[in-house]
Formats: sequence, structure tokens, C-alpha cells
Amino acid sequence: MTQLSTMKERIDRLLAEVDSIKAVSLDEVEQLRIKYLSKKGLVSVLFDDFKTVPSEKKREVGQILNELKNKAQLKLDELKSAFGSKEENQVSSLDPTRPVDHMEPGTRHPLSIVRNQIIEIFGRIGFTVAQGPEIEDDWHNFSALNFTADHPARDMQDTFFITEDSGILLRTHTSSVQIRTMETRKPPIRMIFPGRVFRNEAISARAHCIFHQVEGLYLDKHVSFADLKQTLIYFAKEMFGEQTKIRLRPSYFPFTEPSGEMDVSCNICGGTGCNICKYTGWVEILGCGMVDPHVLENCGIDSTVYTGFAFGMGIERITMLKYQIKDLRLFFENDVRFLRQFTGAK
Ligand code: PHE
Repeated sequence: MTQLSTMKERIDRLLAEVDSIKAVSLDEVEQLRIKYLSKKGLVSVLFDDFKTVPSEKKREVGQILNELKNKAQLKLDELKSAFGSKEENQVSSLDPTRPVDHMEPGTRHPLSIVRNQIIEIFGRIGFTVAQGPEIEDDWHNFSALNFTADHPARDMQDTFFITEDSGILLRTHTSSVQIRTMETRKPPIRMIFPGRVFRNEAISARAHCIFHQVEGLYLDKHVSFADLKQTLIYFAKEMFGEQTKIRLRPSYFPFTEPSGEMDVSCNICGGTGCNICKYTGWVEILGCGMVDPHVLENCGIDSTVYTGFAFGMGIERITMLKYQIKDLRLFFENDVRFLRQFTGAK
């Protein structure tokens, strides 16, 4: 009797289970068929056990057992036909006349747009493009650029180190590519180096731990500060418009002497003062200077024969100024409502 009631319980449980089965693919339907209806499947096993049911109960139990089997079969057939046969699926997925889902074409990221413009502007006066690694060693990021081991300027570039002994790091500026270039090429060199740089800074509207720079290097006989200034004036006017003014302020970098920082007149307020230029009328966009002779010697270049200038600009800063973007974080959020505003730009 107990055996009989457990038999009925098992059938009832399976009836409920079969009722609620779902499948997401033809493969899954096949798995379910094996689970319930194959030779060793849950339903088939019940048929084996059916032999032990006392003969006076066989009719009653046999009826619900058959009901279970039919229900399972029906359910699996239904699921199977919902997916169609494999061959049918293959044919329909190849139907070239089916309408396609509408897909918005993507747009270039504003930082890529401005990087490409910078490359194009410098390309017109003979600068070619190269790139260097984002993971750097101490030599290329610091030592060869005159940052001695205890140089205070190292602290200003909050560095992400990769190894414990601080020998390998994420480059803090693209100036490392100046070194790599001078180590492997002979002057004249007239190149720019765009790329990502990393500094351990708290993220805010004006700072991020990842940002982009374009480095420039011009090395030849008789290159002077006047060449640097003229190149930067040309760049500023091409980038921001003919009315743009520049201002060079004395500054300090270990690898240039003399060094300067360049401001451009604020193209948002036209120089009269606004919150982007902090009411000064000027916005700083780059650091620059004449390559320090010691840096040239570090790279095996004769500093009595060659001179050169270098500069490094922040792409984010230039893009913010150009498109009047007030918060740097927008560049990294990838919100399509922001990105879509650059549709049509190259
Ligand atoms: N590497 C400097 C920085 O990141 C910028 C710079 C580049 C200054 C080249 C001078 C010459 O601040």
C-alpha cells in the first residue's frame, strides 16, 4: 500500500513538473526528452516500477501513468515545434529578404576627433606620428628625462607603479616617447606622439587618473625657441581660429631648458572672463621648452650639433575648450546622449 501511494505521488509530482517545463533552444528540448522519455528517463522508470503494482490497482495507476507519458510527449512536441526544426532555422536565418533591425551608426568620440585634428594640423607642417608603450620603465619615463632618483618633480606625477621596486610603471606623460624616438632615430626628427597617460589623481570635473596627451619633438641643427613659438602660434590658430592669441609663461620641467607653459585666449568668452578660464581670459593647454642638452646626450645625440624643442598638450583640455565641455568625466562615461552630439564631426 505504501509502495502504491509513493508510486502515485511520484506520478503526480512528475505531472506537475512536466506542466511547467520550459526550454530556450532545440538542444534543451532534446535534453528534456532524454530526462523524461528516454529508456532510463523518469517516466520510463515508472513504467518499470509499474510491474510491481498489485493487479487490482493496475488499471487506476496505469491510467494516470499513461496520462503522464502522453502529457510529457505532447509538451515536448509543442516545445519542439515552437523552435522549428534545425534545418528550417538555418534556412530562415539566411533569408536575405528579411527586414533588418534599424541600427544607429556610431560616432567618433570627441577625444578621437580632436586627436585626429591635432595630427592633421601638425601633419601639414611635416610632423609624422609615432606611438610608445603605456607600460614604461623608470629610464624612459623619468631618469632619461633628467628626473634623478630623488627629484621632487617625481612626486608631482602621482605614479602608478606596476612592480614593487618601482622600476616598471604606467607612463605619467608621453615624454617617454621622446626618449624612445631619440634612442632609435637620428636627427632630423619632426614627430608627434599621441597617447594615453596615467596619474593617481582623484577623479573630478577637472582631473582623471587616465587622460590623453600629444607630445611633439623637433630636433635638427639650429632649431631655436623662435621655431617653437612660431609652431605653437600656428597650432593654436589652426585649432581654435585665427583670432586666437597665445601667451607663454616661464615654467620648469627637468627635461627642457628653458621651459614654458602656453595659454590660449579663452575662446568661450573671447578673453573677457568666464568660469572656464576662471575669469583670467586665458586657458593653459600645454607645457614646452628647448630639449635639455643632457637629455640629448642620454639618448646618444650630440648636443653640440643638434638642438630641438618639445611640447606636450592635454587632449581633454583642448577638447573641453573647443566644444565648451565643462566636466571631464563626460569623456569616460560613454553616455550616448553626450556622444551623439558629435555626429557629423570627422
Ligand atoms: N610632459 C610634460 C607634462 O606632462 C609636458 C611637457 C612635454 C613639457 C614636453 C615640456 C616638453 O606635464
